Amino acid sequence: MNYLIDRFGRKITYIRFSVTSRCNFNCMYCVSHIDEGKKTEEFTKDDMAFLFRTVSELGIEKVRITGGEPLLRKDIIDIVRSASINENINEIVLTTNGSLLRQFAQPLKDVGLTRVNISLDTLRREVFEEITQRDFFENVMDGVSASINAGLTPLKINTVLMKGINEEDVIPIAELSLKYPVVVRFIELMPVGNNGFWKDHYMSFTEALDIIKSKYELNVGKGAKGEVADYYEIVGSEGKIGFITPVSQHFCDTCNRIRITAMGKIYPCLFSNESIDIWDAVKLQDSDELIKLIEQSVKIKPAAHGVIKKDDKQFIKNMKELGG
Ligand code: 5AD
Ligand code: SF4
Repeated sequence: MNYLIDRFGRKITYIRFSVTSRCNFNCMYCVSHIDEGKKTEEFTKDDMAFLFRTVSELGIEKVRITGGEPLLRKDIIDIVRSASINENINEIVLTTNGSLLRQFAQPLKDVGLTRVNISLDTLRREVFEEITQRDFFENVMDGVSASINAGLTPLKINTVLMKGINEEDVIPIAELSLKYPVVVRFIELMPVGNNGFWKDHYMSFTEALDIIKSKYELNVGKGAKGEVADYYEIVGSEGKIGFITPVSQHFCDTCNRIRITAMGKIYPCLFSNESIDIWDAVKLQDSDELIKLIEQSVKIKPAAHGVIKKDDKQFIKNMKELGG
């Protein structure tokens, strides 16, 4: 097989693919420059089937479907199925805000989805509404149970740490891992759009770890190979607690991924200014051209993103398009 290996010897086996920039939430840290009213074209499910087939031939083993909110795609079941039928792709994961999972969890499991990551930053309904601008807290909690019942496990909960907004939720969310077989992952806030919000609310993972340690004894656990989180366990718990630390300790050395946006651009790194446009090659189903472009995107993958500082110009342009 023609594997994708970058200039620093990293083998690329993982693709994150934002299937839509549309979202039914409006999270305060997820700034978008897209005019939500303006309809932007998206790949069709046939385009995506072609894309999955091609990346599978290049040795891609894991696909993450992100957005925006991927469950807003009416054809999401067909999309997941078309990824799962490829021989090399053995892991298909969905990152979702969870609001539509109650109806989708079982059908997605049935067509080959491996598991889901649900974004949940608070267990307080009013704070949920403040963060997402939507009154969907119960829907998300229903989505969590539906996913566990459908066997989309280990279920991961993603919690973005925000000083002054959800410190009080750190313990209750960590405690979900006591009662349920879930993996709770606290994520350091990254600068998106302009970094005014980030400057005011960034909180390092060590602060969250200290909050949890003030109440619980933690064992150091292990993540799966290629995982970007460090794991801990509350003694006697069912689940795990992880920390994703893109800001305080980046994990670029072992990065095995590239990102494809809903607009058909490959970003070799979340912080890249450079991207490679695959829209036409996908639309024309030109596999030679597509392979050439993917190989080119791997060649320009940077060694690491720089240090993110409070006075820095380094920020992510558009989280909804890039898919986190
Ligand atoms: N910083 C960190 N994580 C973010 N996400 C969205 N915006 C940010 C940000 N500014 C997370 C979401 C979701 C994942 C796709 O990315 O909460 O879990
Ligand atoms: Fe939507 Fe996720 Fe952005 Fe929230 S973080 S607005 S759920 S894409």
